[in-house]
Amino acid sequence: MPEFVLDLVYVGSAVLFVFGLKQLGSPVTARRGNALASTAMLLAIVATLFDRQILTWELIAVGLILGSLVGVVLARTVKMTDMPQLVGVFNGLGGGASGLVAAAELLRAGDAAAVGTAAAITAAAGILIGSVTLSGSSIAFGKLQGFIPGRPLTYPLQRTLNFLLFIGLLGAAGYLVSSGDYLFAVGLLACMALLLGVLLVLPIGGADMPVVISLLNSYSGIAASAAGFVLGNPLLVLAGALVGAAGLILTRLMCKAMNRSLANVAFGAFGSGDSAGATGDEGEKTVRRTSPEEAALLLAYASSVVIVPGYGLAVAQAQHEAKKLVDLLEQRGVGVKFAIHPVAGRMPGHMNVLLAEADIPYDILVDLDDINPEFGRTDVVVVLGANDVVNPLARDPSSIIAGMPILDVDRAQSVIVVKRSLSAGFAGIDNPLFYLDRTLMLFADAGDALQGISREVREA
Ligand code: TAP
Repeated sequence: MPEFVLDLVYVGSAVLFVFGLKQLGSPVTARRGNALASTAMLLAIVATLFDRQILTWELIAVGLILGSLVGVVLARTVKMTDMPQLVGVFNGLGGGASGLVAAAELLRAGDAAAVGTAAAITAAAGILIGSVTLSGSSIAFGKLQGFIPGRPLTYPLQRTLNFLLFIGLLGAAGYLVSSGDYLFAVGLLACMALLLGVLLVLPIGGADMPVVISLLNSYSGIAASAAGFVLGNPLLVLAGALVGAAGLILTRLMCKAMNRSLANVAFGAFGSGDSAGATGDEGEKTVRRTSPEEAALLLAYASSVVIVPGYGLAVAQAQHEAKKLVDLLEQRGVGVKFAIHPVAGRMPGHMNVLLAEADIPYDILVDLDDINPEFGRTDVVVVLGANDVVNPLARDPSSIIAGMPILDVDRAQSVIVVKRSLSAGFAGIDNPLFYLDRTLMLFADAGDALQGISREVREA
């Protein structure tokens, strides 16, 4: 393939990547953005493989078909609530692949004179970051999937040991660059970096894994960029840089929406990732229970209703039932909106994806800053399997969630909370909202509750 054709394909792919990313910024255009970026990736892979004549046509076809099949099966079968694990696996494999590419380039070239200092430094960085990403992502996957305990696993002198290991890693990288003894140095560097990845992620609670996965996503991008430098492939450098920057921005947004610093996530040992065992002060305080019949009456005769979806809606897969209720209420002239908290659920954009799946129109999904001033004028708020994102304790400076932006649902006329018990959410703390006079608790699975309410609204 002539050089200029390859350059043209790379420039075209780069432009498509940037447009694809831009379109991922809104749920309306996100699908198109995904398709654009996937097409760009396909173009880049095909052009690179054909141009470099790395493999035979047959092998390229087998790789593409196998890879696409695995991708399609995973996309179709993995549940939405398991998406963070899947992204974790992808990051880990991406980081590992970049590390392997950098190592293979060093071993292929053979000696320091052929590689050059700059390329050796970049390769060392690629192996280091790629290996940390691979092992760290594997631990994150294990924690989310329940293979490894979700609680923070801490031990004495943890940070000191990690720091010493990091210094050792820098030494191993220095040895790799200066000695030219690549086989030994690559093995040493990779083993130490794999250990560091494990030790860095083990002390972090399972519930913080989405943030860790987003950070590791950024690392996998940096590792890919380093591999791009080693290979002299400008598109890989650019694509890696985009992933690295996007992952960092996302990590920052998630931390901001939880009002926590990255250091607090990494070293705070916060949240167990297992909300089932945590209970509220059920014995001491009383709540007002309600039934689907009473909830339906309140909703059917309201003029404004705001629904707050949370993690429980995803667990119950009740988005289609939510859509049915919205349709019924709108037919009766009730104004319905959804209040979307940026970290509701367990991954960025979780609620948007879930509600889009049920064809709930984007124009009734309202962000935190825009919906909060409206709660004072709202007749009924329905909290569907959300907990922390509506917890007024965030206004208490002594609470562990102090300062986290919340949806001010306690300012509405009435609040119906749908959940199965008084169990705590992700943060593991009680929620005073449940005990307010204006709050009615509907203890049920979100799907069952919505079905019951819709049935009663039809008859109201
Ligand atoms: P949570 O605070 O985790 O509360 C979810 C609630 O859903 C639980 O209290 C649970 O109560 C209920 N639930 C579970 N299964 C249910 C079902 N089948 N039907 C009805 N209810 C069910 O969720 P949230 O309010 O969405 O807040 C998200 C939390 O995750 C925040 O603290 C956030 O900081 C954290 N987090 C989010 C992200 C992202 S990016 N989204 C990343 C990391 C951390 P019962 O067991 O009583 O039913």
